[in-house]
Amino acid sequence: MSPLDSGGETDFAAIGFDPAAPSFIADPYPVFARLRELGPVLYYPPRRVHLLTRFEHVHAALRDRRLGREFRHRYTPQEFGQPESTERWPSWEESERWSLLNLEPPDHPRIRRLVSAVFTARSVAALRPVIEQLSEETLRAAIDLGDFELITDYAQPYSVAVICTLLGVPRVDGPRLLGWSHAIVKMYELHTDHEQKLAAELAAAEFIDYVRALIDDRRRHPEVDLISELIQVADQGDRLTDDEIVCTVIVLLNAGHEATVNTLGNGMRALLHHPAQWARIVGGDVEPSTAVEEMIRWDGPLQLFERWVLDDGVEFAGHRLRVGDRIGMLFGSANRDPARFTDPDAFDIGRGDGGHIGFGGGMHFCIGAPLARLEIAVSITQLRSLAPRLRLVAEPEYQPFFVIRGLKGLVVAAS
Ligand code: HEM
Repeated sequence: MSPLDSGGETDFAAIGFDPAAPSFIADPYPVFARLRELGPVLYYPPRRVHLLTRFEHVHAALRDRRLGREFRHRYTPQEFGQPESTERWPSWEESERWSLLNLEPPDHPRIRRLVSAVFTARSVAALRPVIEQLSEETLRAAIDLGDFELITDYAQPYSVAVICTLLGVPRVDGPRLLGWSHAIVKMYELHTDHEQKLAAELAAAEFIDYVRALIDDRRRHPEVDLISELIQVADQGDRLTDDEIVCTVIVLLNAGHEATVNTLGNGMRALLHHPAQWARIVGGDVEPSTAVEEMIRWDGPLQLFERWVLDDGVEFAGHRLRVGDRIGMLFGSANRDPARFTDPDAFDIGRGDGGHIGFGGGMHFCIGAPLARLEIAVSITQLRSLAPRLRLVAEPEYQPFFVIRGLKGLVVAAS
């Protein structure tokens, strides 16, 4: 028997896969490499989930319609061996009820079509001058501080201001939105304690009230913004209900900055750890838009997404799964799979491979990808022009969470 194998079951502790362990969080990639070598599908008992470790299978799972984010539209919790919902976090559940991320057909395509009708590539492109201006003014203010914290002094206020502008949320409310969203996204982690759940519940309740008030206001006084358009959008005789608009606004606001900010943090850390790569940007050899893809592939902000097996016949690399099984797609592992990427651990910002799965795939493919790509590329452009000699002042640490991967802080100096 291999030391990594305890009688047919993977010995995750021996491999170092412990999503709560600081050593794993600090650098999960060597552990992912060992998982990939061990097998494409590994059952992880603490979460009762079958982990997919390789690119090929994560890519296929994202597009497999027999897998779903939700099962309750087709099965009872008993049938899936899950506890009945106890409704202990009613506001949090209300805020998630119509979130695109959680929906299945027929609700998902219906709501996604309506949201896509207003959140278009054109609406994002039209925002470019505003995004450039917000980036420049936020970065100049941060640089004026001397040493500055790239995440709290730049990435957060910038990204929150962008998504607020797009939706039509007053920018002065940015700090409140940040607090609510940080509390809410803790619910997506594998380990969430009671305090964190309570904080998420309270945040969701306040957030819902806040968004409802905004919707009331825009219904009376429409403006040129996404909230007004979500209220007005109609397509094939269909409209969004108020509950659907509330959840859509919340998911756009939260998703609209959390992953973008963490990509900027993780990606700038990577660039500053690889000065030769930063030099390629400053020297103009690599376009910022090309670098964005490698930042997301090499150390992405989202590490795990799960799906339920809803229909018979699902199989990965000969591992047959049953209805009611849950799979976990290890994004960070897939994006470092040597079977898909040449020299996958090399951080090569000129790689020019947008085929990573950092934005997902299939019907839940990130609706904000064009905005995220633009925001990050604009940031790199501003950083190279205003702070070409950017350097780390202190070694950054990661926040103690696995699913949402981001730094506690990134203290840098512009000269
Ligand atoms: C670098 C930044 C970002 C990354 C890496 C990212 C990644 C992802 C991924 C992986 C998914 C798919 C989840 C799944 O399959 O279950 C997703 C979905 C989504 N993202 Fe993003 N995202 C980013 C930025 C944004 C932005 C800026 C917005 C909005 C303004 C946004 C809004 C959404 C929404 C609404 C969904 C759900 C789509 C659906 O289920 O149909 N994201 N994102």
